Order: sequence, then C-alpha cells, then structure tokens
Amino acid sequence: MKALITAGGKGTRLRPITNTHNKHLIPIANKPMISYAIEAVAEAGIREIGIVINPDTGSELQRALGGGEAWGVKLSYVMQEAPLGLAHVVRVARDFIGNEPFVFYLGDNVIVGGVQRFIEQFTESGDQCRLVLARVRDPERFGVPELRDGRIVGVVEKPAQPKSDFAVTGIYLYDRHIFEAVDAIAPSARGELEISDAHQYLIDHGYKVGYSEITGWWKDTGKPEDLLEANRLVLDRICEQPEGFRPGQVDGQSDIAGKVILEPGATITGSQIRGPVIIGARTVIENSYVGPFTAIGPDCMIRNSEVEYSIVLDRCRIIDADIRIERSLLGREAEIIRCKTKPMTQKFIVGDQSRIELT
Ligand code: TTP
Repeated sequence: MKALITAGGKGTRLRPITNTHNKHLIPIANKPMISYAIEAVAEAGIREIGIVINPDTGSELQRALGGGEAWGVKLSYVMQEAPLGLAHVVRVARDFIGNEPFVFYLGDNVIVGGVQRFIEQFTESGDQCRLVLARVRDPERFGVPELRDGRIVGVVEKPAQPKSDFAVTGIYLYDRHIFEAVDAIAPSARGELEISDAHQYLIDHGYKVGYSEITGWWKDTGKPEDLLEANRLVLDRICEQPEGFRPGQVDGQSDIAGKVILEPGATITGSQIRGPVIIGARTVIENSYVGPFTAIGPDCMIRNSEVEYSIVLDRCRIIDADIRIERSLLGREAEIIRCKTKPMTQKFIVGDQSRIELT
C-alpha cells in the first residue's frame, strides 16, 4: 500500500497568503497543514508516500518536508505541470504508484482518528474503490453519494435534493483500476479531469465502489473560516505543556489558564492567556490578552493588544491595537500597529486580494 497526497492546486480561496506560499504549508496549531495528512498515513504503516506538487511552489514544499525523515517515511515528489483536476493528479502519479493499491489523500483535509481503519476495511472488502464519507448537516454543499446495499451507486456534486446526509471527503482508496477510469474520462465544463467522473466511470463499469464513514471530525480547509475551525478543533485536542513552563517564560503578573503550549523561548509578561492556545518559539507577549483557539507562530511580538480565535503566522507584530482581533488570519510579517500621530486616520498597506473587515 502506498499513499498519494496532493499539495498542488491554485489555493485561490486563501489568497493573498497563497500568492507567495503553498497553501499546504499554512500552519494549523503551528504545524503545516499537510503534516496532518502525512502523520495519518505514516501511523497506518505506509512508508512510501508521493506528494503531488506544482511548478510554482514545489521547491518550497520540498525544502519544508524533505525526504520524510521526520515521520519515518520516504517522500517522493510528483510534478503536476498544471492544476488540471484531481483525476489528472492520479494520472500523473501512475509511475510512482505502479500496480499497488493506494490511499489518495487531499493534503488540505484534516481528520481525527487516522486512516488505518479505512485501509483495513478496503483490503477486507475486495472493493476496487472506497470513498471515505462524513455525515454532515448541509450535504447540498458537497459531493453527495447515493448508497444502496453497502455500496455507492452514484455521486452528485452539490445536489439541490441530496440522496443521503453524507459528504464525500478528500480521502479515497483505490486499486489499479482507477488508472483505467482516469484515462477514460474527458475534461468537465470547467476544463478539469474530475475525480467524481472517475468514480462514476468505475460504478458504471461494474467495479465495486464501497465506503467507510468518518466517526470523528473532518475538515476541508480551503477557506479562511475552515482553517480557523480546523485550528480550533486541533487546539482543542492538544495536551497541556507536559513538563510545565520553563523558568523565565511566564512572569508573576501573568495569568495562564486552560491548555497552553509555549514553544522554546516564548515569553509572557503581564498578560492573560486563556487556552487552548499555542505560542511559537521566541514570540513575546507583553501586557496583552490571548484568548481561546489562537495559534501564534514563531518570532512574533504582541504588545498592549488582544487576540482571540485566530491564526497568526511567523514574525507578525501586533502593537497597541485597541480593538480585539478575532477570527483573523495574519500572514507572515504582517503588522497591526497603532500610531500615535495626528490626524487620527486609519492607514493600510494591503497586499493583493487581502481582506479587512471594519465594524
Ligand atoms: P481544491 O481545494 O479543490 O483546489 P485548490 O487547492 O486549488 O484551491 P482553490 O479552490 O481555493 O483555488 O483542491 C483540493 C486539493 O487538491 C488541494 O490539496 C489542492 C489539490 N489539487 C492539486 O494538487 N491539483 C489539482 O489539479 C487540483 C484541482 C487540486
């Protein structure tokens, strides 16, 4: 069994951060989003993992993930020259996969509970394809399967009248027949080779397409609000700092409550921290409030400010901001600073496709 994890695509919904960086390296609880996918397949005992990259950001991803030593796996990189769809991703990975069965895992999906159970169910079932489903409240937003006698007999994208309350997640299991399907299908109206068309091909040609259900939570982190929600869910499960804080990290005027992780060299003075929160290496928090479900990256400075339910990336500075910053995503080296000069105006230097909400 091998694994194929996607790390290409365009990431348009996460601009401007994805203008300069690969979406899959955006941190969730201070770890790159894609590391959750790698961990899940490594935990299931898979050692050979292909990462599908694009020409724009592939080298950044290779530098960040290396050969896979950190997870005890072997990472191979497969180049997809253009984002021509998920079935195209499978096509370009044919040499890497060979004839082995494999897990196809979208690198922007985060799940709890791992994938071992799905692999076992796939292997025992003798299915040619198995889709992992999650029960959702709003199936009309997703690809929805029609189920009959333990099999999938059809999948409809964003149906007005869903035939089940399941969504197809970004985790799929295949044997070699998927290559026949991705070779046979034609591009869709939006010009992509759709993975749902490959699944429909398998169903129509009498192959067995089964399913497994995710019982924990699942999140597709394509949009900023999904990223914040995944960050919340992951932080909610983090353990408290196992050995307590290091000397000098928290002064006597600070108040820390709940699950809080301070990475090496992070310091807190005169501040209130309400977990679950993670604060990155060498970050300084002074006279500030950091509220639940916040992940602050390394080398940041937060002074005389309030931040809650947010993701703040490396080297940001939030200084004297007298509004509470909430449900926000700050890219690397972003600065939110109160200036004391007159006249009292708001001044912005904002990158392409940024978004600022004023209340
Ligand atoms: P999507 O979230 O569908 O697309 P995207 O990442 O390009 O984002 P957006 O819609 O905001 O522009 O992709 C799902 C996953 O598949 C994600 O990990 C990116 C990856 N992908 C590829 O690697 N190659 C592709 O051709 C496509 C379409 C997606």
